Amino acid sequence: MNRSDEHQLLMQCLSLLEEKSTTLSPQSHASPTDRYTDPDRFAQELKAIHQRLPIAYLHSSELPEPHHFRTIDTHVGAVLFTRGEDGNVNAFHNVCRHRGAQVESRASGCAKAFSCPYHAWRYSAEGELISVPFEQTCFPDLNKSERGLVAIPCIEAYGFIWLCPEADSREAAEQQVAQHFEPVSADLSWLGLDQLHTFDQHRRRWRCNWKIVNEGGLETYHFKFAHKDSIGPYFLSNTCVTDQLGAHFRVVMPTEKLKEVTEASLADTRLRDITHIVYGLAPQTTFLVQKAHIDWIQMIPVCVDETDIIMTSLIPTPREELSAEEHAYWQRNLEISIATLDEDFELGQSIQAGLNSGANQSLTFGRNEGALAAYNRWVEDQLQAFNNG
Ligand code: FES
Ligand SMILES: [Fe+2]
Repeated sequence: MNRSDEHQLLMQCLSLLEEKSTTLSPQSHASPTDRYTDPDRFAQELKAIHQRLPIAYLHSSELPEPHHFRTIDTHVGAVLFTRGEDGNVNAFHNVCRHRGAQVESRASGCAKAFSCPYHAWRYSAEGELISVPFEQTCFPDLNKSERGLVAIPCIEAYGFIWLCPEADSREAAEQQVAQHFEPVSADLSWLGLDQLHTFDQHRRRWRCNWKIVNEGGLETYHFKFAHKDSIGPYFLSNTCVTDQLGAHFRVVMPTEKLKEVTEASLADTRLRDITHIVYGLAPQTTFLVQKAHIDWIQMIPVCVDETDIIMTSLIPTPREELSAEEHAYWQRNLEISIATLDEDFELGQSIQAGLNSGANQSLTFGRNEGALAAYNRWVEDQLQAFNNG
């Protein structure tokens, strides 16, 4: 995003403020409730969307140097992420090629090689099988070059490490990420995500469908009600600029500070000073952009009515360089974000319980909730394209 795009968004916020309105779609929509309750449909969504598109599991700063590694349970099983000698990031199924034990059990660390705990087959950070105890007598026919850890294409872009299970090579993964994020590429560069550092992470499982969680970030209609005791008072009621950018959504949410902007101060006003911006990146990565930091929210579908949420705060300074005062500041910010998002997710659980009761055959999206309808249309399109082969 360049300064003129930022200016354009500021102007749109100011017009909405004057009109006391928000981005409106031409009409309201009905969303059938089986979108959120049907386990067969959920299984299809996983295949058509989550197992096909790039998904971020790590911020680049979590693998800062060659030989750093992380193990993560992902939607394609247990994965070992390493940064190789050459600085490139690798991802492997964390599964030994001998008899299938998990090779690395530590969550993170620094290692030049990984030794399976069962019979000590050893693998390099690039996944090659380096050594096998008693190889000559017990495995005379073993071709070690064919028994490296099984790689999953992954690439580093925009400050994150993206797993691309459907790509068949690193080049294909690069192409897929470039294509998928092309419509938000300028915005992601503008955010300077690769300059940030992880401060802390919070994980919790919620009893609601993954789409309900995503929908909650696409409107501000609920702010003054659902968040009345937290962030509600700081935001304009039912006012936001929403845009669909390819498969993704950007929601610019003005705070009360927008009212202080004058024609004279406009040129010096940064969008991030007077708004929060939600980027809902398909399928399960959300950025909540605030003045100086970003909350990265991963929404990992578990089953049709359960979703794991991982909230990671990304800040401008490495955690180990923070003063006690700065540490307390970011900790407070994180607690506010968690408390606010918990309000959303509690409501998500309440919606899911209502859906499961069968009281509604469909949910209603008003003209001010047009992004929710567009988002569900995108999901429907993915399912249709997948089913049409
Ligand atoms: S299962 Fe890994 S060395 Fe045997
Ligand atoms: Fe909310």
